[in-house]
Amino acid sequence: MSIKQLDNTYVSNTYKRFPICIKEGKGSILKDDKGKEYIDLGSGIAVNTFGMCDEKWIEDVTNQLNKLTHTSNLYYTEPCVELAKILCEKTDMKKVFFSNSGAEANECAIKAARKYASPNNIEEIENILKNNKCAGIMIEIVQGEGGVNCLEEEYLKKLESIAHKYDLVLIIDEVQTGNGRTGKLFSYMHSGIMPDIVTTAKGLGGGLPIGATILGDKVKDIYTYGDHGSTFGGNPICCAGAINVIKRLDADFLKEVLKKSKIIYDTLKNTKGITSISGLGLMIGIETKKDADEIINRCIENGVLVLKAKNKIRLLPPLNIEKENLIKTLEILKKICEE
Ligand SMILES: Cc1ncc(COP(=O)(O)O)c(C=O)c1O
Repeated sequence: MSIKQLDNTYVSNTYKRFPICIKEGKGSILKDDKGKEYIDLGSGIAVNTFGMCDEKWIEDVTNQLNKLTHTSNLYYTEPCVELAKILCEKTDMKKVFFSNSGAEANECAIKAARKYASPNNIEEIENILKNNKCAGIMIEIVQGEGGVNCLEEEYLKKLESIAHKYDLVLIIDEVQTGNGRTGKLFSYMHSGIMPDIVTTAKGLGGGLPIGATILGDKVKDIYTYGDHGSTFGGNPICCAGAINVIKRLDADFLKEVLKKSKIIYDTLKNTKGITSISGLGLMIGIETKKDADEIINRCIENGVLVLKAKNKIRLLPPLNIEKENLIKTLEILKKICEE
């Protein structure tokens, strides 16, 4: 049976796959089982921060693989604390809970907000019910799956002041927008607001599954022993991959992300067939006159992989994509939109 037939037979059919079997890749170039090459503008949905099989990342992950693979959270390990320290120092937050995915990072954040609002206080529960009060405000600053829509700075500042006024926990979901994707380490850093909790995953591991719930001053001690846990959370291999990613996202690298973003905007603006462009950094949504699926399929034929968000084309290229490859794909996309 072919890979496609085996997948259809044995893998639960929750995913509508494109008719491509990816065999290998290097940087922003992926190769299918027939040897056809594609330039990847999707990064495994914002995961492969430095593209496929990045050498420096592989080196750090391999070194860790040869040292210590998994211990559980019953013991202290170095990569876990090193990553937590870097994340706290870079965000001015206080503590980190590690998990394996964005959903779990968010689960931990929501639980922290609930714990902050009403532990063991029945009167407060009654008040919450009476006044329809909530425990926190949770937002995604550039709504990825929602169509790559940016929340405005003024709106964010007002949300922050409402959170302060009512003592709510301000949670920013940086699962997709985090780890340099928007040209800052985290997207909230564009606006100067200060969240109480930041959740992240996807690009943090650069291709390995890791989620992080970064807790600020207000909730840093909300959890105690036994309150929450994850078997693989803080796994040394995933932390080694994430340390490599975070350490390389310095100011110069992030400036390059913004320059590449400008290339996308400059190349695609005024394109016949494109009605709007939205997004920040290398997280871009493109509204087209033609149906998005038609454009995605034409891109595949032409060796370019792009994503979809609602009715838009979504671009999430590796952050270190070579400028020539980026420009090449944009010219192809432009031509397809103009046809
Ligand atoms: C903003 C946001 N939050 C949470 C998630 C869930 O992440 P995961 O699939 O790693 O559980 C996603 C996934 O696309 C996301 O984009």
